Amino acid sequence: MSELAILGGPKSRAESYPPWPVWDQRDIDAVAEVIKSGRWGGYPYPGPKTAELAQKFAEMQGGGYAVPMANGTVTMEVALRAAGIGWGDEVIVPAYTFQATASAPMAAGAVPVIVDVDPNTYCLDPRAAEKAITSKTKAIIPVHLGSNMADMDAIMVLAEKYHLVVIEDCAHAHGARWQGMGAGTIGHFGSFSLQSSKTLTTGEGGILLCKTLELAAKAASIIDCGRPHALGGGEEDYSLEFQVGGNFRLSEIAAALALVGIERFPEQARQREAMAAYMDEALSEIPGVRVLKRDERHTTRSFYRYVFAINPADFGVEHDVLCAALDAEGIDCWVGYEAMHNYSLFQPQKSKLAVPSAFPQYFDFKNMNLPEATRACEHEAVWLDEAVFRCGPQGVDDAVKAVKKIQKNAAELHKAADELRGK
Ligand SMILES: Cc1ncc(COP(=O)(O)O)c(C=O)c1O
Repeated sequence: MSELAILGGPKSRAESYPPWPVWDQRDIDAVAEVIKSGRWGGYPYPGPKTAELAQKFAEMQGGGYAVPMANGTVTMEVALRAAGIGWGDEVIVPAYTFQATASAPMAAGAVPVIVDVDPNTYCLDPRAAEKAITSKTKAIIPVHLGSNMADMDAIMVLAEKYHLVVIEDCAHAHGARWQGMGAGTIGHFGSFSLQSSKTLTTGEGGILLCKTLELAAKAASIIDCGRPHALGGGEEDYSLEFQVGGNFRLSEIAAALALVGIERFPEQARQREAMAAYMDEALSEIPGVRVLKRDERHTTRSFYRYVFAINPADFGVEHDVLCAALDAEGIDCWVGYEAMHNYSLFQPQKSKLAVPSAFPQYFDFKNMNLPEATRACEHEAVWLDEAVFRCGPQGVDDAVKAVKKIQKNAAELHKAADELRGK
């Protein structure tokens, strides 16, 4: 019999990893309190729980003015609009990310310009970004992907040199720090998702950290149906102008859940960080595995997912086959996003949206050359669920044991690969 679970052998881990999100009586009490208060919704904005969340989240990240809202996509659209960026302006985004990083500029009427990533971190490559800058470039959205951070020093140098607005997409980077500075507090904006898979969650939600009170007031207005907001949030100031806006407020129920999540977060982050260091060491001994390089300026890591790379020639199989085999071993695993230029949803002929239809020249995906993102997405990247860190060393040991077992039996797995892929 094969040693590999995918070929009928025993699993490396019999028990499932624990589910996410975690909850206890505190969450129930927090929601019950809001229900009993009768103040469920986000109007008038911000409600008391939302205001408390704004303050506590800015404290947790170490700066900025926080504007809680509906999700971590609209956060980026609102940031662009608050910065006065819109129709036809170019916004640089990395080729390796969730589609929201590119669709948010499109929703604001701007054009996403896709650039390659750094193979060491899989985050936006500042050199590729600089080459893509034109007189129309107005903003750049680095994504802190999986468990890494983009090189914020280099990105802020570009921002200063070319007068660009920087929106950090921190959907994966709650609690992360770069040279001691919180993710989302370095650029002009930090965009956070609180969607249910995220390490701080309310089920659905988002928070936009803004560098200045003025930007925060504009953002609060845009998400509150355009009502004027005074600097510092809080009371409406009707001496200010209304603007076009929508209802993207966060509900008080969601804010209450996020407040409990913030209480739990430091201990969870400590455990993930300790287990990830243990994982780095153990994985780096396996032939064909490349632990992503940790930039020493990335002083605190956060782990939405633990991402590592394989060199398929040395490991013995491609990453999709490894991931399928890991899943069968009982280790929750994912190959990660597609490269952005392969996302069919942005192709102008498939969309009647204003962008990309009005700007087809930016969406000539076949002629885009993005070798690093393509390599990561099609051959190398392996995303492990953060749940592997929530069972202490045993959770990590099981995952490492499974990767080792698969590597040892890679020749057998390689022979079965076509069949496993359903070819
Ligand atoms: C990198 C990235 N950016 C943005 C988002 C969008 O967040 P939301 O789902 O809250 O809109 C996500 C994921 O959900 C993401 O992974």
